[in-house]
Amino acid sequence: MTNQLKPELISIPVDHIDRGLVSQVAGALLEGKLVAFPTETVYGLGCDAFNEAAISRVFAVKGRPATDPLIVHVADGEMLDRVVDGQLPPVARLLADHFWPGPLTLVLPRNSALPAAVTSGLPSVAVRSPSHPVASAILLECGIPIAAPSANRFGRISPTSAEHVLADLGDGCDVIVDSGRTQRGLESTVVSVDEDGVVVLRHGAIPMEELREHCSVRAVEDEGSHLKASPGHEARHYSPRSPAVAVSPGAFASGSGTLEFTAKLRVLYAGYSDRPPQIPDSWRFEPLGSAGAIDELARNLYESLRRIDAIGADVIVLELAGEAGLGRAIDDRLTRAASSLVVERPEDLQAALTQVLAEDTTP
Ligand code: TXA
Ligand code: MG
Repeated sequence: MTNQLKPELISIPVDHIDRGLVSQVAGALLEGKLVAFPTETVYGLGCDAFNEAAISRVFAVKGRPATDPLIVHVADGEMLDRVVDGQLPPVARLLADHFWPGPLTLVLPRNSALPAAVTSGLPSVAVRSPSHPVASAILLECGIPIAAPSANRFGRISPTSAEHVLADLGDGCDVIVDSGRTQRGLESTVVSVDEDGVVVLRHGAIPMEELREHCSVRAVEDEGSHLKASPGHEARHYSPRSPAVAVSPGAFASGSGTLEFTAKLRVLYAGYSDRPPQIPDSWRFEPLGSAGAIDELARNLYESLRRIDAIGADVIVLELAGEAGLGRAIDDRLTRAASSLVVERPEDLQAALTQVLAEDTTP
């Protein structure tokens, strides 16, 4: 085909999966093209996990450092065997049997045949089997493991729709598959496996409480210094363009200290359901959702952050949800969106704002 416009947009609704279109998408992947596709969590920027040229394009298009490894997506045991070394450890087998297909990523010993660039040279590989019907149809049709990070520029907000991918990566993708909005809205939970059970390296769509029904689970942040969160899961990530700070749940429910110093600033406060009575009239309030409807909050979180980003402000104040379960993943993303600066009390806000405004380098 000549003069093909990039990216090629292919619509495959979840309730009408056209086999011809699926095979067209699979063909593009087999040719080494970059294909953005939906998963149940967020859209991924996929390519043949064994094609080194395509892998290096994925890193380049995202602006992702080579030190931040990709997740490999598989749809059956054969694909899994091509990326993982040997048999799955018993705990991994148990979790894969229960949670796959689904939003759980297992960090396992890497098969030496897999290009080192996929895992950033690590001896381990992160692998998951997505449950999105379009994702699994594409994987089964092309029959090869697909490496796919979230389809956003590095450090920015993950995409939950094809429009987000187009806005963020544009013609960096060869093909964008549009299947509407994703169901979960937050990335998969990433765990590593050891003799004692699993360690959560990134909180995500499957809460620790659910994993605990099957094995012993620790969180990396409680493990001390000998273990690290997933590389690339940085203190600053999922970031809006405006400077942001996070505040503890309910920090502004009852007032103490004056907030008059914000009179000349455009402040946008993102919280839950209703505007907290203690925030100044000059602040704009935007709801993230209801902390009581946590699934919906998670599903809409990135969409809300994009909306807030588009409104813009001198400073954005993000209130943490303070909930268990999925709330942990939500608060992880909000904290990183605020470059990990969390204010506990209103009287600490002035110092925090001074800090973020001094650090802000956006033009
Ligand atoms: O839901 C998801 O996981 C989405 C969809 C597209 O599947 N993908 C996704 O990929 O979020 P990405 O690249 O944005 O995040 C992958 C995370 C990164 O934090 C990375 O460091 C971690 O997984 N990771 C990958 N390989 C790893 C490894 N060998 N050890 C530890 N962490 C790893
Ligand atoms: Mg990502």
